[in-house]
Amino acid sequence: MRLMDTAATKLRRSTARPAFARWLGTTNAVTNTFLSAGSIPDLINIAGGLPAPELYPAAEIAQIARKAIEAHPQDTLGYNPVEGLPELRDALAARFSTPHLHLGRENILITTSGMQGLDLLGKALLEEGGLIAGQFPTYLGAIDAWRPRYPTYRNLILQDPSFDPVGALTGAQFAYTVPNFSNPTGKLVGLQTRQALVDAAHATGTWLIEDDPYGGLHYDGVPLPRMIELSGGRSAGQRYDGPVVYMGTLSKEIAPGLRIGWVVAAPEMIKALTMAKQGSDMCTSGITQRIALGALEAGLIERLQPGLVGLYRERRDALCAALEEHLSEWFTFERPVGGMFVWAVARDRDFDTDRLLPLALKEKVCIAPSSVFDPSETNRWAMRLNFTLNPPERLDEGIRRLASAVRTLIGGG
Ligand SMILES: Cc1ncc(COP(=O)(O)O)c(C=O)c1O
Repeated sequence: MRLMDTAATKLRRSTARPAFARWLGTTNAVTNTFLSAGSIPDLINIAGGLPAPELYPAAEIAQIARKAIEAHPQDTLGYNPVEGLPELRDALAARFSTPHLHLGRENILITTSGMQGLDLLGKALLEEGGLIAGQFPTYLGAIDAWRPRYPTYRNLILQDPSFDPVGALTGAQFAYTVPNFSNPTGKLVGLQTRQALVDAAHATGTWLIEDDPYGGLHYDGVPLPRMIELSGGRSAGQRYDGPVVYMGTLSKEIAPGLRIGWVVAAPEMIKALTMAKQGSDMCTSGITQRIALGALEAGLIERLQPGLVGLYRERRDALCAALEEHLSEWFTFERPVGGMFVWAVARDRDFDTDRLLPLALKEKVCIAPSSVFDPSETNRWAMRLNFTLNPPERLDEGIRRLASAVRTLIGGG
């Protein structure tokens, strides 16, 4: 058997192998670098969007998991409906319904976390070269998810006073937004702009994606209404059938290891995404769906939130103080009111954060350069810095190391 395997391998190696798909030549392994940076000794990772692991509710999740498996062996250990467990879909429909937004099970799809929702959207909506309107710089994972479709992009410059939402959405397959504390910029989209985008989506029929992993991480001010709520107000008591596609996840408010996310949308969109999911992973893990349901029923998100918000607010302030002290000579930034990131912009537009990254890694600090958040890869003068993973003293040390890398780059090192 072994011999045959060896012979077969030799035979294969002596011939040319079929090429990998063309889109793989356009991608990069940056996300994997961020996720695995934690295993490099003494490296300070301020690149990834990683939660503080000390806040993972391990004991409570273990208890919920044990109970779920014992009480629901079929749901947890068997296959499940592609759309997700009916009880979890009902619980999410109830959670996101408001006096103006009426949701039922048919409005909800459970996904294998937020990333899968983005992937399914590309599968369901994009033909090769399809047009996406988006806020750029934008989430790297979304660009990655849509890459196999070779989309074209149109920039939604929301802060431009002459921004014309109808013109911006017309002709696009969908518009992609992260209104709460965008990844990577940390920016909040204001109420007026939310309303204008919703109006434009209704006027043009363009799907408006509201990707909202960070909505619960609000450090200052009052949370703004979701765009799907603003859109729901138009359906006069009917089940939601509008153009907003809302996406959520448990990754930032409970734990990313659960890989549980959801899409809230018109039934027609839920059906299309379900078809796409069937050919993707058939169904999301029943164990983690049951854990998610147990966690929602136990009010875990609400109980964890004050601790998360308190810790992250302190860390945001620590990162901003460190930036002010060590980097402000070369970079400007705005203090975000929520989320996980500070977007630092070089004062000199010729500064190249792609070139800074290897020098930063030499100093044992990892940052996310702006080029990876820009589909055209032209923005090289900024970087994304995360404040949730590390305690204040590590953030300060990370920014000191980064300043040393900047000095080396400027000095021609
Ligand atoms: C804007 C945005 N959308 C979606 C996701 C997906 O997260 P997950 O797949 O862990 O739910 C992330 C993760 O960082 C994100 O920043």
